[in-house]
Amino acid sequence: MNPTIDLMNARCSTRAYDPAPLTDAEKRAILHTAMRAPTAGNMMLYSILEIEDQAIKDRLVVTCDDQPFIARAPWVLLFVADYQKWMDLFAVAGVDEMEGVPRGVTPGVGDLMLACCDALIAAQNAVIAAESLGIGSCYIGDIMEQAEMHAELLALPRWTFPVAMLCFGRPKTRLRMTERYEKHAVHRDRYRRLSEDELRDACADLDAMYGVGRGGDELGGFARDVYARKFTADFSVESNRSVAWWIDRWSGS
Ligand SMILES: Cc1cc2nc3c(=O)[nH]c(=O)nc-3n(C[C@H](O)[C@H](O)[C@H](O)COP(=O)(O)O)c2cc1C
Repeated sequence: MNPTIDLMNARCSTRAYDPAPLTDAEKRAILHTAMRAPTAGNMMLYSILEIEDQAIKDRLVVTCDDQPFIARAPWVLLFVADYQKWMDLFAVAGVDEMEGVPRGVTPGVGDLMLACCDALIAAQNAVIAAESLGIGSCYIGDIMEQAEMHAELLALPRWTFPVAMLCFGRPKTRLRMTERYEKHAVHRDRYRRLSEDELRDACADLDAMYGVGRGGDELGGFARDVYARKFTADFSVESNRSVAWWIDRWSGS
């Protein structure tokens, strides 16, 4: 349709990298484009950590659910939702001496959510900028796990949350596009839950798309697989525990 849409539609996650480092010009362009992303109130409620220390990358392999390609990625960025920098600015700016505004206000979970939105939108801008330079990427959602360990390893203070890590590098192998199930994904005006019949159709479509559970008895094989492999798996339990820890620390509860 046009080169931007073509680029975005051809993107897929890259997990095997040519070891050649990115040039400084490429890194600068990707970082600048990340920071040109829309941001709530133009506050840039995030910080970007360039993870260059190989010892930290090696540790992240283990703490992010054993994903060895993190250590081999030529460039790793961590997008951290960040209100700490504003709290520090507020303190230096003497906001507590202002007349007519409440004192001692701290960021709430709404602020955390906005900061996560900012950080993720910036991260996705980085993905697309990299893609346009022939550089692939892969998100690492497991960075939200192992909260206590990651807070210490990366020196993350109270009003921060590591929402997305990205590995970058030129693809070493030819990439395979994954399919998307677009049917029912868009609703008009109001949310509409699917009927029992529509849900059965969706199960059958997904089974066919992923080549599992063909035949009447097996209907829903793919959904059952997702339940077992993703929703109730150890990493999911750890992710829920860990994110609760980040939120508790943020809100001081
Ligand atoms: C929030 C988020 C977290 C992800 N975490 C991981 C991860 O920890 N490890 C990994 O290999 N891929 C991860 N991915 C990549 C997805 O598996 C990938 O986007 C999905 O399978 C679709 O494939 P595609 O990106 O090639 O289209 C993550 C993607 C997102 C958006």
